[in-house]
Amino acid sequence: MCGIFGYIGKRDNALDLVIEGLKKLEYRGYDSWGVAADMNGKLFIEKQVGKISEADLSIFMGKKVQMAMGHTRWATHGGVTQVNAHPHFSWDKKIVVVHNGIIENYEEIKEFVGKEKFISQTDTEVIAHLIAFYRQTMPFKEAVLAAIHKLKGRYAIVVMNVGEPYLIAARRGSPLILGVGKGEYFLASDIPAFLEYTQNVMYLDDNELAVVGQDVEFTNIETGKPIEKRLVNIDWKAESADKGEFEHFMLKEIMEQKDSILRAINQDDDEILEIAEAIKKSRGCFFSGCGTAGKVCMTGEYFFSMIANRHVNFASASEFPIYHHFLRPESLLVVVSQSGETADVLEAMDAAKKKGAKVLSIVNVAGSTIARTSDYSLKINAGPEKAVASTKAATSQLAVLMLIAYAIRGELQEGRRVLAETASAVNDMLNPRFLTYVKDVAESIKSHENAYIIGKAENYPMALEAAIKIQEVSYMHAEGFAAGELKHGPIALISKGTPCISIIANDEVKQDIVSNTMELKARGALIIGIGPERFKVFDQWIKVPDVGVASPLVNLVPIQLLAYYLGVLRGHNPDMPRNLAKSVTVK
Ligand code: M6R
Repeated sequence: MCGIFGYIGKRDNALDLVIEGLKKLEYRGYDSWGVAADMNGKLFIEKQVGKISEADLSIFMGKKVQMAMGHTRWATHGGVTQVNAHPHFSWDKKIVVVHNGIIENYEEIKEFVGKEKFISQTDTEVIAHLIAFYRQTMPFKEAVLAAIHKLKGRYAIVVMNVGEPYLIAARRGSPLILGVGKGEYFLASDIPAFLEYTQNVMYLDDNELAVVGQDVEFTNIETGKPIEKRLVNIDWKAESADKGEFEHFMLKEIMEQKDSILRAINQDDDEILEIAEAIKKSRGCFFSGCGTAGKVCMTGEYFFSMIANRHVNFASASEFPIYHHFLRPESLLVVVSQSGETADVLEAMDAAKKKGAKVLSIVNVAGSTIARTSDYSLKINAGPEKAVASTKAATSQLAVLMLIAYAIRGELQEGRRVLAETASAVNDMLNPRFLTYVKDVAESIKSHENAYIIGKAENYPMALEAAIKIQEVSYMHAEGFAAGELKHGPIALISKGTPCISIIANDEVKQDIVSNTMELKARGALIIGIGPERFKVFDQWIKVPDVGVASPLVNLVPIQLLAYYLGVLRGHNPDMPRNLAKSVTVK
């Protein structure tokens, strides 16, 4: 969470570049922002509460500098105020820091450097004062090293020392990437922020520090020794990170599912077969992820049972510690993550590695920490996902899990055929008439404060996912239930006109869920059915194609659209829901 951007190089509009970079990183946090530059040996700093994309930036007009840095914040320590926004600076206004992560021992460091020096309530400010403390007696790089040796917790930082012609970057536990252009460098929390300037990157790994000036030098923080870094070429296109003709990223990304599912199943056969073998051989296979990725894992549990006749254990990554004692060297942990940076997932991976177990990751962001630190990693190739609500990543993750399930059953090509047909069905479904129909459904329920969603078997996790989507984008209270559980309690919530969405695939449990839907209707619920077949019990019906066992993929698409339109019709920006951030790098 939080976005960092730094620039140093031949261009003299570094502040503009940083501002544009921060706008691209806003999905990581958007409650306040700030930038800093060295203006002829004096600190220039501007911080504001609110979104940078909505700020009046005329103050920066005509300012010429070749080195600058900035930050867009998702508050952890200290409220959303101008003074708590980053960058933070030392008492002498010489050391300036932007930070993503959490410094756990900040109280202790505050005592050490002197509480009277502090003006904010953040944990980050201690980094600036601590570096300044050591800088009194040491060169800049040594002062940064001395300071970070004292820090406990997670950080990605960029540091400027006013009067010195270079930036220092360091990381432990939070992402930071160096973009390498011709005669210029970019430091950012995520690649799309600088993709229009360069596709060449160097990844900072944990416990690495980079001095970035006319050239770049890497140092291992623990040993103090220099490190050789590899230049990696990223084959994403800059345009794919723009909204294009769409009003919001969320709608654009929903529409991209016309192609992204196909890209997800375009995996190397040998690699999929190797992974299928590793799963078959494992004794104790665990699926884990958070939020939407967690719901994908839970669906994977059903896919593996139905397609591969194989039991796997699902747990949300935040709840995974309860399983740590089951991990053994023969276990396999399968983690799913769009960003590849989710802190709870990284913790689950650490636990598995400590027990000698292997980790398979299914990720979207190439080169992310999760991708780079797992034993096997599959890319879903969905392209940049910018809206906070995960959409195209989810259907691609579902497709990859289903493909692996088919490979375990010994029918990889059949799995690919089923999924290719599903991708084509999604393509047909996403037509203007379908969008208008879903928008009308949203219009008919937008003034309600509660909505309930039911599903069964492989579509039960989709009911839970529908609730997440509606909650985060429209702020409507939404809850998902296993259809058969209604009569054990939740049905008491239903009164006349309560919107209830019933996901009914053409599978062997459909009659059960039709009966459960009737029970809702008998209590006055307004029933919105999603499925290939129209049942009398539906008041409104969102028709989806019949794709057999792949039904969660086609059911999820109208759910995403419904959430999107509910958000827009209720007056919210679906790309940046309140209180959330795209990448959750804190526990
Ligand atoms: O990047 P990840 O897939 O690991 O993120 C996991 C969750 O934070 C994410 O899916 C979140 O729930 C989304 N905002 C849901 O739309």
